[in-house]
Amino acid sequence: MISSGSSVQLGDKYTMHRPLASGGASRIFLARQLSLDREVVIKVLRKQLSTQSEFRDRFAQEARILARLEHPNIVQVIDFGEQEGFYYFVMEYVRGGTLRDLLERADHIPLDVALAIAYFIARGLDYVHGHKVLHLDVKPGNILLTRSGIVKVADFGLARLVDGAEGQTASRQYPAGTPLYMSPEQVQGSNLDARSDIFSFSVLFYQLLTLKNPFAGRNTDEVYRNILSCRVQPPSELRSDIPVFVDDVVMGCLQRDKATRSTSMSSLIGELHGALEKLGVHRPEERVTRYLSDPNHYRTVLKKPSARLNMDTGSGRSRSWRKTIIALLLAAALLAAETWGLARFSDLIPWLKSKTTTEEPGTGTADDQPVNPD
Ligand SMILES: Nc1ncnc2c1ncn2[C@@H]1O[C@H](COP(=O)(O)OP(=O)(O)OP(=O)(O)O)[C@@H](O)[C@H]1O
Ligand SMILES: [Mg+2]
Repeated sequence: MISSGSSVQLGDKYTMHRPLASGGASRIFLARQLSLDREVVIKVLRKQLSTQSEFRDRFAQEARILARLEHPNIVQVIDFGEQEGFYYFVMEYVRGGTLRDLLERADHIPLDVALAIAYFIARGLDYVHGHKVLHLDVKPGNILLTRSGIVKVADFGLARLVDGAEGQTASRQYPAGTPLYMSPEQVQGSNLDARSDIFSFSVLFYQLLTLKNPFAGRNTDEVYRNILSCRVQPPSELRSDIPVFVDDVVMGCLQRDKATRSTSMSSLIGELHGALEKLGVHRPEERVTRYLSDPNHYRTVLKKPSARLNMDTGSGRSRSWRKTIIALLLAAALLAAETWGLARFSDLIPWLKSKTTTEEPGTGTADDQPVNPD
């Protein structure tokens, strides 16, 4: 690599601009592909690890696995190479940040958006599984978002090709993955199959819905203990607008015993699609795009639950009209009562106000508050 000013030349094909992230085994750089004059991302294996064949092989395998996969919901690999002892591969640059960034920023993710994002991740993972690959590190930091709202699964650093007719792959001696998102099988070091990714996916999905990781603990051991034994609250216990059919999807994948867990990503896609349809969402990609382009505006538009459920059809105003009429009738009745000396209208204004404004969450925190102040 040749350094000139603030950028570094990687062979005669790429100019590295700046580091984007740093993982355990590699570093990620924003770069320019000179032949096509476009921005790309380059993942470089740490120099000290590139002398060890185990790490080199793993790194090359990550690139080769990615090269087999071509799907709108999977990050695309462009090139692989070695330059003066630096091993690297080149990917498309996904400009919208990661799902982890989004979860850190958000104080609430609208239900339809959470479901839509989960749906596209599931599509990506279903494709991955269809190509006999297990991802084994599904987590928000490994989900990339384009600025236009396309969801892409990335980081195949722990991915493995499935061997054997049963679709099982032997696990390692030690747990590999990210503790908070590991399946019980990963924690215990038993055989892994697609259901392990389904479990990790559902932890991520749970977090999209509630902004909480169900297995969070003070240290890794506690996280492992939680994965293996703690009771998981259904998301609807943490957030009042989550319907039972969404709870069922999440909890069906979070089963500790993989024999009772949802069995395939394709059946999960069907369940997620069904849930989106029940919410009146027919074009999930539009929900993600609209939300990412302006989360605050999206929230204003969808302030009322009725609008949230009926945005695709354009209806859904009748409930709010009913509420307005009820509020007016109530006000008239109170005025009459005051006239008859039964109550002082002014004493009741705060109560009346709270009755008419609980419809409008305004802030994300209202979603886990009871809507009726009584
Ligand atoms: N194609 C890409 N476009 C944009 N950003 C990317 C891309 N690939 C990776 N990144 C950024 O780099 C980070 C790390 O990438 P990746 O997860 O592949 O590396 P890693 O070394 O395996 O990291 P970790 O060990 O933290 O999972 C991502 O979370 C993301 O912020
Ligand atoms: Mg990663």
